Amino acid sequence: MAAPSVPASPPAPRTQPDQALGELLREGVTWGDSEAWLPALPSGSVDLWFTSPPYADARAYSRIHPDRYVDWFRPYAASMLAATKDTGWLVLNIKNRVAASGPFRGQRHPYVYELVIELQRQGWRWLETYIWSKPNAVPGRFGPRTKDSFEYVYAFAKGPKPYFDLDAIRVPYRTAPAEIARRKLDKLGRRNTDAGFGRDRTTTYLRGGADPGNVVSVPQTYNQHNGAGGHTAAMPEALAGFFVQACSPGGGVVLDPFAGSGTTAVVARRLGRRAGGLEIHRGFVDAALERLRAGEPDDVPIVIQLAH
Ligand SMILES: C[S@@+](CC[C@H](N)C(=O)[O-])C[C@H]1O[C@@H](n2cnc3c(N)ncnc32)[C@H](O)[C@@H]1O
Repeated sequence: MAAPSVPASPPAPRTQPDQALGELLREGVTWGDSEAWLPALPSGSVDLWFTSPPYADARAYSRIHPDRYVDWFRPYAASMLAATKDTGWLVLNIKNRVAASGPFRGQRHPYVYELVIELQRQGWRWLETYIWSKPNAVPGRFGPRTKDSFEYVYAFAKGPKPYFDLDAIRVPYRTAPAEIARRKLDKLGRRNTDAGFGRDRTTTYLRGGADPGNVVSVPQTYNQHNGAGGHTAAMPEALAGFFVQACSPGGGVVLDPFAGSGTTAVVARRLGRRAGGLEIHRGFVDAALERLRAGEPDDVPIVIQLAH
């Protein structure tokens, strides 16, 4: 019997928008080109896009020159905007790079900032810039500068009232328990000082934990998925977990248009969201499906650094 033929390029999306979305959510990670799939999704249907797109010129699997990055990304962002709920988000993990040629040679290339400005012009509401700090970043030859030990995570909302659950990402208070107990009994409220108006801290310790701040410290997990495809740019699960919990409701729809090894879908499903992703490289899809089947955590627990 002849072996079944394998299509050379990923299949096109179904024509009915709800069928297309249903397929993504059912599969977990679908072999497909986001450029074709995103416009096929129903409008106003997605709570959160959490994604790490190919970085400019960075990896062998996708060489997008930084000078062309904004033009490359624009249509994806426009399609995602249309498919997002009014309360929804696009949360984008992206990294600076040093320009290898051109007028910025040796300097940081401005493509990340150009992209942020473009997305804002497109209608995405730029609400926050988070720093993913990597306490275990490995040194490289980037001089004259220190090693790269952070990446950006830009949070864009579609509408003026996005879903946001700060309580889901609170971290333990660092103040001594005795001081917390004392403050809880403090009934005086705000105190003015010589330096000006004080803040009312009487409720600070009644919230079940501290605001984690916008520096999210999560160890990078190098080569974590070697057993399942060896994706070289897989993000840590704890990073995805932070944003999935904060920016999407339980049962909400979470998608990753650049799914890679499927981290977003794996984590979002574990957290009770309906999740799916698109990945253009068949081998990564297989790896992602393997991870989804296994379901267990892949990396170390989250460490969140408090803002000072
Ligand atoms: C930075 S990696 C994502 C890694 C992922 N966050 C993970 O944890 O494994 C970006 C991925 O986007 C995929 N990609 C690039 N262009 C695509 C497209 N048009 N449609 C779908 N996937 C694409 C690449 O093959 C690559 O695996």
